[in-house]
Amino acid sequence: MLSFSMVSLLATLLLGISVQGIPQAAVPSATPSAAPASGGPSGGGGGPPITGGGKPPGTGNPAGGESPSGSGIPNVQNATNAQCVPWYGIRDAIMGGLFQGRCGANARAAIRLAFHDAGTFSLALQAEALPNGGADGSMLVDPNEVLRSENNGLQTIVSLLQPITAQFGVSPGDVLHLAGVLGVLACPGGPLINAFIGRAPPANIAPMGLLPDPNSPIDVLLARFADMGFSSRELMALLGAHSTGTQSFVDPAQANASFDTTVDIWDTRFYTETADATVLPGTFKLNSDVNFAGNATTSADFSRFIGKQAIWTSEYAAAHLKMSLLGQSVDDLTDCTEILPESIDILSLAVTTSTGGGGGGGGGGGGGSNSNKPVTDPTIDPVKLEAAIEQFRSIWLVPATT
Ligand code: HEM
Repeated sequence: MLSFSMVSLLATLLLGISVQGIPQAAVPSATPSAAPASGGPSGGGGGPPITGGGKPPGTGNPAGGESPSGSGIPNVQNATNAQCVPWYGIRDAIMGGLFQGRCGANARAAIRLAFHDAGTFSLALQAEALPNGGADGSMLVDPNEVLRSENNGLQTIVSLLQPITAQFGVSPGDVLHLAGVLGVLACPGGPLINAFIGRAPPANIAPMGLLPDPNSPIDVLLARFADMGFSSRELMALLGAHSTGTQSFVDPAQANASFDTTVDIWDTRFYTETADATVLPGTFKLNSDVNFAGNATTSADFSRFIGKQAIWTSEYAAAHLKMSLLGQSVDDLTDCTEILPESIDILSLAVTTSTGGGGGGGGGGGGGSNSNKPVTDPTIDPVKLEAAIEQFRSIWLVPATT
């Protein structure tokens, strides 16, 4: 496990960048965000020069208070809810300090961590008033939970998030689940998921044996997710998080193999490629994913998302929000969605063809105007994609030499 000082050193050495609003000597250990009037450490205000005021194609879906810079990153100076003010700084510590604004290993691990924290929730245990899991941040609190074999690969992200919780004096569940929401947004195409704060500290370590095993039969997996409160259809939407996923522990000989050929974007190719019998070079298929794609009970819901970016992201966002609230009462929480950056809309980054459009948006208001076209996944223009990513992350990064 990395020590906190090692993490700081690594962040400085790796990119040679400074992180906006975060004291450079301790990347994850940012001071709490200042009040709005101070200009504080939060995105968009008082920070680095932001080149190019305009947005490239690909950023959209305003998330909150308009940033004066036009960057799409809401500024603490425009905060509308006083309880959300510290969370602008925490957003920057995670998205800037830990993710560097990219869909990299830390962002992917944060998405999986959100599931592994919340996915220990059980309606059956709740009915018996027994110690339960849920979206409570217990993974950041009890050192034994993250050491369980099913949590292999999550130790680094846990060690990076723990000091943020301590430094800002906020609840581990809130930090962990904000990191999950930000992880999805860091992945181009990832939808905006409402961010709630106010979770109480975990009451207990999560019960053992509740996270799904990729080699379990489909009926066992469906029953486990039903015990969390998810329908089969919601599970098929959630599984698409594997669009940006890799494996290293199911088959260590194929460490870092990804679950689809576009691991750096949040697209529907995971569904397309998993449902196809071919295993493409560099990719790896979990038995559970293949079984869901082919099982009579689940295959229709699984394949429904192929080429349907807008429908999938909409259903994913709803299911992830539900996941981030498992075991919590939303009435006791505060909606701080206003702190979230705009998502990167990959459909507007698609390579256009002579038959028109990038296609593949399919219904749900996300593009795909020609309904007679065969359902395909859009091909993303790499130059436009990189421009959109650089615009997205520029707010958090300042070249060390300037
Ligand atoms: C039946 C349900 C599921 C099973 C059996 C499953 C299993 C797995 C396994 C075995 C890995 C690879 C771990 C490794 O070897 O490194 C993995 C990775 C991942 N899973 Fe799942 N998973 C399930 C559902 C989910 C859900 C619901 C989410 C999130 C909403 C999720 C998010 C991820 C992510 C993001 C990764 C990649 C992590 C990385 O690349 O670092 N999974 N999953």
